[in-house]
Amino acid sequence: MAAFMVRKRWFSGSSIDWWDGVKPAAKDPIFAITEAFLADDCPSKINLGVGTYRDEKGRPVILECVRRAEAKIGGVQTMEYLPIGGDPKLVQETIKLAYGENSDAVKENRVAGIQALSGTGSCRLFAEFQRRFRPESPMYLPIPTWSNHHNIWRDAHVTQRTFHYYHHQSKGLDFGKLMEDVKNAPDSSFFLFHACAHNPTGVDPSEEQWKEISHLFKVKKHFPFFDVAYQGFASGDPEKDARAIRIFLEDGHKIACAHSFSKIMGLYGLRVGCLSIVCKDAEQSAAVKSQLQQIARPIYSNPPVHGALLVYTILTDPDLRSLWLAELKVMVSRINVMRNLLRKSIENFGSLHNWEHITNQIGMFCYTGLSPEQVDRLVNEFHIYMTRSGRISMAGITPASVDYLAKAIHEVTKHDR
Ligand code: LMR
Repeated sequence: MAAFMVRKRWFSGSSIDWWDGVKPAAKDPIFAITEAFLADDCPSKINLGVGTYRDEKGRPVILECVRRAEAKIGGVQTMEYLPIGGDPKLVQETIKLAYGENSDAVKENRVAGIQALSGTGSCRLFAEFQRRFRPESPMYLPIPTWSNHHNIWRDAHVTQRTFHYYHHQSKGLDFGKLMEDVKNAPDSSFFLFHACAHNPTGVDPSEEQWKEISHLFKVKKHFPFFDVAYQGFASGDPEKDARAIRIFLEDGHKIACAHSFSKIMGLYGLRVGCLSIVCKDAEQSAAVKSQLQQIARPIYSNPPVHGALLVYTILTDPDLRSLWLAELKVMVSRINVMRNLLRKSIENFGSLHNWEHITNQIGMFCYTGLSPEQVDRLVNEFHIYMTRSGRISMAGITPASVDYLAKAIHEVTKHDR
């Protein structure tokens, strides 16, 4: 009996507080906005935080091409594992979409590609690959860039450096400083670009500027990595939006791309994407692909099957593909209408600031130039939610909310000259 009591006391006293040292992590600057928005019960609240498309009534959208692809597939066909590298048909179609069916790299079978968990997963696989095979090379990220890029390369233990990109006064590209940074970086550095519709600024280099960047990259032997999250979302035409990628390819660069179908097909929660790396020949491409698979296997084993099937079906069925292209145009044009309305409405309220950048910037976001304090006022006084960087998701604006938003922006900026 006594022995039992001692034993019981020993057990209860021995529980170790394993997680004592764990403090709450900082919230994600984008997803935290959605949380705060959902917790707000003000009826006029607006969420301009996360970049997800909404229709003119503010509702999430499932594209008609996706619904029809679902019908064509006819429900779940398999629950089997995909290969580690995912669905090869999806990978092939994605590569053709980005690089062009007739590009030498595609024809010569020297693009190593694997399906990955959307843009984030593709970037992360590349960051891991970079650390393994080019551990001495830092990754240069534009300032600003999508906040998660910093997390991705940090967690992959790749050294990060930055390069100038955005010009705060003009609210456009700081091309001069960008080129200086590219020039001053040690030879053979890695640079991350957004292939189009730069997130968060909505500011892209012009075709001429891409050509100059590509030329300087040749001189400096730099490696260009493209985050391709919005191919088609900038102009409404995926071919046009692939221009930067094609310029670098035509100039003979070995590039890599992180492709995502979250935005361009509205498949956010299905996590469909690919990582592709252009190699010197088919043999090298096979080796690179095998290494990418080896990286993926211990992280998530193999990617999910259903979204890949949907995307592949849309890209290869001529009717579904043209429907998708038409729906892309509808999304882009709704956003552009909102850009015009927002700018006009702020001006109509008598704002003395220059709001041209709202209509000059492209893609899903507008980088308003609002300060963190002004954003805080929009949240606290007007229940309008956006990242503290002043980025707004244009797709979150509707004809019904645009004047309310414009008036609020005017209110928080009118005394600021
Ligand atoms: C965004 O920038 O809002 C989106 O790309 C969503 C995300 O994952 O951050």
